Amino acid sequence: MMQKIKIYLQMSFFFSIFVGFLCAAMNFIVNASDKYCRQLLRIKHIYMNITERISGLLSQIECMSAANAEELEALRIKYLSKKGEIASLFSEFRDVPNEQKKELGAQLNALKDKATERMNALREQFEQATQLQDKPDLTRTPDPIALGTRHPLSLVREEIIDVFARIGFVVADGPEVEDDRHVFGMLNFAPEHPARDMQDTFFIEKEQGVQKPTDILLRTHTSSVQTRVMTQQKPPIRVLCPGRVYRNEAISARAHCFFHQIEGLYIDKNVSFADLREVLLYLAKELFGAETKIRLRPSYFPFTEPSAEMDISCNICGGTGCSFCKGTGWVEILGCGMVDPNVLESCGIDSKVYSGYAFGMGVERITNLKYRVKDLRLFSENDVRFLRQFESC
Ligand code: PHE
Repeated sequence: MMQKIKIYLQMSFFFSIFVGFLCAAMNFIVNASDKYCRQLLRIKHIYMNITERISGLLSQIECMSAANAEELEALRIKYLSKKGEIASLFSEFRDVPNEQKKELGAQLNALKDKATERMNALREQFEQATQLQDKPDLTRTPDPIALGTRHPLSLVREEIIDVFARIGFVVADGPEVEDDRHVFGMLNFAPEHPARDMQDTFFIEKEQGVQKPTDILLRTHTSSVQTRVMTQQKPPIRVLCPGRVYRNEAISARAHCFFHQIEGLYIDKNVSFADLREVLLYLAKELFGAETKIRLRPSYFPFTEPSAEMDISCNICGGTGCSFCKGTGWVEILGCGMVDPNVLESCGIDSKVYSGYAFGMGVERITNLKYRVKDLRLFSENDVRFLRQFESC
């Protein structure tokens, strides 16, 4: 009996050990599988989480836009910087099991490439826009520019040049500082002519302090250009010589030490006084209107023979007489004549073959007649209140 009990006790001891062992094993298996399942779940969760975030970021990147450099930089920091969204996905990527790394890695790299590409495109767009902003818009209407006005003397000079250009006259130019020969000598002035007087003409001193007049002077008329042209060119000659001239005069409303002239010269075979008269009538009508009449009064110039002064019918009263024309109905506008054969010869032109006419007018005088400027000094004072009055001319 005792033996049986002992065997029974031994068996139940071993059985309980066995059951305990079994329970422990079961427990271990359950725990291990639980852990394994959790691990699987966690991996699945990481995987799902990363793929979801990748697709979320992809759609955000698609719609990215930046209006300026600051906004563009903010986007770069958000997505592509070391602490940015994509970098954080890469750090989580380390926990992804090896078998999924390949696929997820490819998705992550594609996301990074897409973000970089989009960022570059935005930068380019933005740079192009700023470049366009910097470039002047040539289609824009210009800002109003304060335009100056043309000087009344320039207006009249251009008008006269234009009138003569239509009948074949070309402009010739010459120096304002001239020599006696071109201003007086070749133009048949007698050696003691009063025009050569220091009271009439400005002479240039050769040496400082030397008072004796030299043969260098400021031209007193633009006829000096005519002598230069005649010595340099062969007839036919048809020139107009506009320019500034100087005379030793006290400055007042009616006189100035410098003023402007336009002289004309025509040299050819068979040029007659009738040609001169026709040309001057044409000039008067072009400048002052078709109704204008002219008259020629005998006069004297050393370089023309015969010489004349030309008057036009007063353009203010129409010839009936007013204070401007001093009741005569006529106003003087220029000097003219047939070129003296002595002048032609001194310039090397055969006076038996060629003849010609010359005329000369003061631009200020014509301007006064056209625009009624009463004081000569206004022309050189540069007062914009005066000059602006010619805006519409
Ligand atoms: N030279 C003359 C002057 O200054 C004008 C003139 C030119 C007269 C040509 C006749 C011929 O007054």
